[in-house]
Amino acid sequence: MPLTLSTICQRIAPSVTLAIDAKAKAMKASGVDVIGFGAGEPDFPTPQEICDAAYEAIASGQTRYTPSNGILQLRQAACRKLQRDNNLTYTPDQVIVSNGAKQAILGALLAIINPGDEVIVPTPCWVSYPEMVRMAGGRPVFVPMDEHDGYRINISRVADLVSPRTKAIILNSPHNPTGSVMSRADLNRLAELAVSCAFYVISDEIYEKLVYDGAEHISIASLGEQIAAQTIVVNGVSKSYSMTGWRIGYAAGPAPIIKLMGGYQSHATSNANSVAQWASIAALEKGEGSIRSMRDAFSVRRMLILSRIRSIPGLTCVTPNGAFYVMVNIHGLIGKTYDGMPITDAMTLSALLLENAFVAVVPGEAFESPETCRLSYACSTEDIRRGMDRIEAFVRNLI
Ligand SMILES: Cc1ncc(COP(=O)(O)O)c(C=O)c1O
Repeated sequence: MPLTLSTICQRIAPSVTLAIDAKAKAMKASGVDVIGFGAGEPDFPTPQEICDAAYEAIASGQTRYTPSNGILQLRQAACRKLQRDNNLTYTPDQVIVSNGAKQAILGALLAIINPGDEVIVPTPCWVSYPEMVRMAGGRPVFVPMDEHDGYRINISRVADLVSPRTKAIILNSPHNPTGSVMSRADLNRLAELAVSCAFYVISDEIYEKLVYDGAEHISIASLGEQIAAQTIVVNGVSKSYSMTGWRIGYAAGPAPIIKLMGGYQSHATSNANSVAQWASIAALEKGEGSIRSMRDAFSVRRMLILSRIRSIPGLTCVTPNGAFYVMVNIHGLIGKTYDGMPITDAMTLSALLLENAFVAVVPGEAFESPETCRLSYACSTEDIRRGMDRIEAFVRNLI
């Protein structure tokens, strides 16, 4: 019998975003001045009060295994945060602390999916959702969001896709990669649909704090008792507090689901890092001021990058109201050539940009969204100016 490998693992598509990032970093390491619009993380240092809490945790010996669902103090802090910011009432047994929001989302999917179940994923979507659904034995069902509709989820289209196998929908508002923020009216309609057709909602709220132009983040679970009972809210400290490397996320939801997620996590990874858990309490309790200054900086960068994109012929974009990404429509460049090399899709465009203009962007294929590229403005205004100068010169050279 020949040795074989896992079919599920072999089907997992490697992350395009990480591949671009790795190539850009390798070029940088070899001395090339690459400007990165690919990053999915804030460029600010973690706020001092959060680092101080970590130093204190080490000094006081908080360096051992914790309960695998997370320390009670952090789960209590998460409950207070969810009440204060989102009007959601949970008890600590309804909260699990994970290795980043990423593990919380995978854990939620593993807890609810049976083989062949369908999970509705609005596209463009974050790279990991479809792969996580597949890893859990489910089937992603994509519902395209229209750029001309501001990347809103069309709830009637979702309703058309609901089948007896529909187990859940994954929401992400504010949204990666489009930056769209769901309105209360759309959330209400979606909540009604989820309740009437009996499917779960996984609500990924990791970019909650990064909203602009008066946009409001609303958690779908706050819209009624029934929808709360079938929603798993996922959040974390990575994006809001510039703590991507600390790897702390959390999920809140019905106790039986959180219990199943805890069972999986206890065998997969045990607890999230103990020191980072103590630091995350400081983030949730004392981090509001730092969030404001980071959001103000992102807001300035957003206006700068939008005006630069819109001044380049062939590129268009929707104004994003949240997160730190802009989805750029590159349709106007398809069919053109750079130095004899044809641009056939976003993948070839991003490769040409990286190799010739030394700018890293993420091609829309990574998000199930061809003919777009995602630009992250989680970089300095100086880098935005220099990077956009290069993109503009590149585009003006196309034939
Ligand atoms: C939409 C979305 N959800 C979840 C995550 C994962 O967050 P964490 O770093 O806390 O695992 C990311 C990170 O890029 C993201 O963009």
